[in-house]
Amino acid sequence: MSVMHESPKIPTEKEPAYEFYNQHGKEYADLQREFYSDVPDSGRRFFREALQEGIEHKIIADIGCGAGDDAVAYKQMGAKQVIGIEPSLQMLEEARKTVGTSGVEVDLVAGAWEHLPLASESVDAVTARYSFHVIQNLDRAYEEVARVLKKNGLFLIAAPHPKHDEKVIEAQNLKKGDRMRVPIFNGKFTVEIPPHTMEEYLSETNKKYFDVDDLVEYSMHEDPTETDPTGLLLKFRRK
Ligand SMILES: C[S@@+](CC[C@H](N)C(=O)[O-])C[C@H]1O[C@@H](n2cnc3c(N)ncnc32)[C@H](O)[C@@H]1O
Repeated sequence: MSVMHESPKIPTEKEPAYEFYNQHGKEYADLQREFYSDVPDSGRRFFREALQEGIEHKIIADIGCGAGDDAVAYKQMGAKQVIGIEPSLQMLEEARKTVGTSGVEVDLVAGAWEHLPLASESVDAVTARYSFHVIQNLDRAYEEVARVLKKNGLFLIAAPHPKHDEKVIEAQNLKKGDRMRVPIFNGKFTVEIPPHTMEEYLSETNKKYFDVDDLVEYSMHEDPTETDPTGLLLKFRRK
């Protein structure tokens, strides 16, 4: 059976999260590479450790793959197949360049959480490195991930910690539905993202489809002066 959906739905909706990356995606990718060149990246380590065992048998879908660095890394780690999925055409173009110079094969497809261009029960792992919290409705995405994952398949998420979001809501005096403005990479870049609660991450829909294998609270930018966690790492397993 093919992994790709018979007729992949290319997103056409004007969604703020990928409109934003269409405009600022290249700058984000460049600054991220610069930032993590001398700062440890717990999120990346968590993902790679979770995927390592039996990776040669794994088909991995990296959703919101951005400039494609992680998709390439999973293939270089020996994954059977890696599919990078991105709604922002600018990011997809960046990913094409990254894959092109990597010497490995990664499939790149336009798509979004809301309509994953993948066949049902077709992949062994879905990864979301800072690309899941960017959407408003996490449950809709959980339904889609549950559809495409095989039984016991992994769903890995790195996201800002809800405690962090709570503080930003207070500091920026946000109302329901407002997006947060969060400076990252030493203040060189500001993302606009919706806040989320722990109840949204561990929702009833989530519990219906997934077991929690691991939940890690950490300092997203490895800042030792941060007392509360700013980052959340989740490892879910499809029931
Ligand atoms: C913060 S970037 C992270 C990119 C990459 N995973 C990384 O770690 O560098 C968020 C990515 O999510 C993508 N994105 C935005 N809305 C999305 C959606 N509805 N479905 C999937 N990805 C989305 C953006 O285009 C962007 O590439």
